[in-house]
Amino acid sequence: MVDLSVEFININFPNPLILPSGIITEIPEHKKAIDAGVGGVTLKSITKDKREGNPLPRMWKYEHGMLNSVGLRNPGIKKAVIEVKRFMDENKNTPVIVSLFSTKVSEFVELVERIIPLNPSFIELNLSCPNTVDEMGNSLGMEEGAAGKVVGAVKKVSGKIPILAKLSPNVVEIGEIAKTCEDAGADGIVAINTVGPGMIIDIVKEKPVIGNKEGGVSGPGIFPITVRCVYDIYKSVKIPIIGMGGVSSWQNVVEIMFAGATLVGVGTATYTKGMKVYEEIKTGLTDYMKKENLKNLKEIVGQAHK
Ligand SMILES: Cc1cc2nc3c(=O)[nH]c(=O)nc-3n(C[C@H](O)[C@H](O)[C@H](O)COP(=O)(O)O)c2cc1C
Repeated sequence: MVDLSVEFININFPNPLILPSGIITEIPEHKKAIDAGVGGVTLKSITKDKREGNPLPRMWKYEHGMLNSVGLRNPGIKKAVIEVKRFMDENKNTPVIVSLFSTKVSEFVELVERIIPLNPSFIELNLSCPNTVDEMGNSLGMEEGAAGKVVGAVKKVSGKIPILAKLSPNVVEIGEIAKTCEDAGADGIVAINTVGPGMIIDIVKEKPVIGNKEGGVSGPGIFPITVRCVYDIYKSVKIPIIGMGGVSSWQNVVEIMFAGATLVGVGTATYTKGMKVYEEIKTGLTDYMKKENLKNLKEIVGQAHK
């Protein structure tokens, strides 16, 4: 019997596949991914105040992936706390990662304090959204100091709940930013968020295809960037990594684990292949483990560095 389970920061995942944040927007609907066989789910990023999101259309598929500018549509922390609690009560056997987003350090701390009583498996700090900027016009995750500052402040109040820092690939040295987060107390790194921003122009309508004109790029086209980012982060830190960005097959999962990921997010592929992608990947991984005579997938994490 092949065992796909993986331990990540003392929590057992039945398999290494997770749903990345934002792929499903409404909190109750995240159950669809659990029913489809993921090992764990990340909820849509929550902000302090309710956000309606950017003008429609917010997503656009193209031949190598997708462009999105959802604009962090979410009910705001007050309502989200109720919905997250209900979701966790109804899905007790699945590790839940609660994703939080702010542009201010103090507000991140406030959000974490509101989530702690729910006792989620992990809290993920979205330090990387290209669609929302700080007062200086920068994505927070792009500045080394900013990422470390957020993690350090949050760790003072987060107690035993592990804190994951989700990073943007749109930086010069992602490994250095990951190290800053580790030094500030992060328990794990999540990489990568979307690449870009990018733009697609409809040549008949003669204007950009999505409402916000530009958006983050995800899906297969960004996969080599993901592999390089995870590889760089693995070299720079000792804390474990959740790798994501363009993963759509079991071969991609093996490759990103070779680069250094312990868990693997599969998001945009659910739009192109459907939720059945999780079972398809699990079948491929099971066959691979049998063929390679692997007892646990952890054996291949970081293999490409040897
Ligand atoms: C429609 C959509 C919405 C997203 N919303 C969020 C979000 O709220 N928070 C976040 O951290 N990442 C968000 N992301 C980024 C994903 O979590 C993930 O990092 C990225 O899409 C790369 O993985 P993939 O190629 O498997 O989709 C979003 C991505 C998409 C496509």
